[in-house]
Amino acid sequence: MSSPRTYSCALITGASSGLGEEYARQLAGRVDKLILVARRESHLTALAESIRNEFPRVAVATYPADLSQAIERQQLIEAVHRSGFVPDLLINNAGLGDYGEFSTSDWEKIEAILHVNIEALTHLTHAFVPEMIHRGGGAIMQVSSIASLVPIPDLAVYAASKAYVTSFSEALRIELLDYNIPVLAVCPGPVHTGFGKAAQRTSAASEMSAREFFYVPKEQVVAESISALDRQSARVYPGWKTAALAMVLAAMPIVLARLVMERRPRR
Ligand SMILES: NC(=O)c1ccc[n+]([C@@H]2O[C@H](COP(=O)([O-])OP(=O)(O)OC[C@H]3O[C@@H](n4cnc5c(N)ncnc54)[C@H](OP(=O)(O)O)[C@@H]3O)[C@@H](O)[C@H]2O)c1
Repeated sequence: MSSPRTYSCALITGASSGLGEEYARQLAGRVDKLILVARRESHLTALAESIRNEFPRVAVATYPADLSQAIERQQLIEAVHRSGFVPDLLINNAGLGDYGEFSTSDWEKIEAILHVNIEALTHLTHAFVPEMIHRGGGAIMQVSSIASLVPIPDLAVYAASKAYVTSFSEALRIELLDYNIPVLAVCPGPVHTGFGKAAQRTSAASEMSAREFFYVPKEQVVAESISALDRQSARVYPGWKTAALAMVLAAMPIVLARLVMERRPRR
């Protein structure tokens, strides 16, 4: 049995809603300081206030930043270093997707997916890992997706970005084994958060509703991933249905995956 690790300072990106907000709430009792990052400052402020009320001994700092912008990431990193609180738990959770064919996608959204899902996650990891090594420990959670397991038409760039996240996490985990820094790739299936609306191109009902069977509550996704980090797992697929689907997808030969994807329902 793994015992819960304690952390001095957790930095959570994408804390203004969904899984990020839930990570902040569930970790508040286990840290001395929380650093909450996202663009929507009012959401971060409201969350910080609610956490301070429930856990008065926890210091909560909010950093509004657009992580798609390298300059804002650099300012965030410098502000955190100046604050004297170096994160020993980094949760790279901010992310977004785009439902629809690549040929008709909006370039600005595609660019934002690449900047946030890949660049920002890599940049923040690069900024904070050396200090963790220097201090003799820490932990990193990279929020990926079950979509990282197979190429997914109509979600092509998002799935490819998450394939990067899972691959990067697995390699980094091995590099950091000797430094007492577990790295976990969190690979959820569908979760009801702001993700679906942000990924949708029109206000029409989601064409993904057939996946309703696989939805897992965000509270469960977060609780299972925190437990997996305590166990120093390499990956977690929260929820038994997601875990079962992941086993099937991971075992599926690419020729079969292509046949399945070619027969997907089209609009
Ligand atoms: N929900 C799902 O079905 C699902 C499934 C698998 C994996 N995931 C992954 O889970 C993670 C969290 O997503 P979620 O489901 O909780 O969706 P969400 O509710 O839409 O949350 C996304 C978070 O990312 C932040 N974000 C987006 N763009 C940003 C930017 N340019 N700069 C800074 N922050 C930015 C958003 O904050 P602001 O808008 O305030 O900036 C928000 O806090 C993502 O990495 C997603 O890919 C989600």
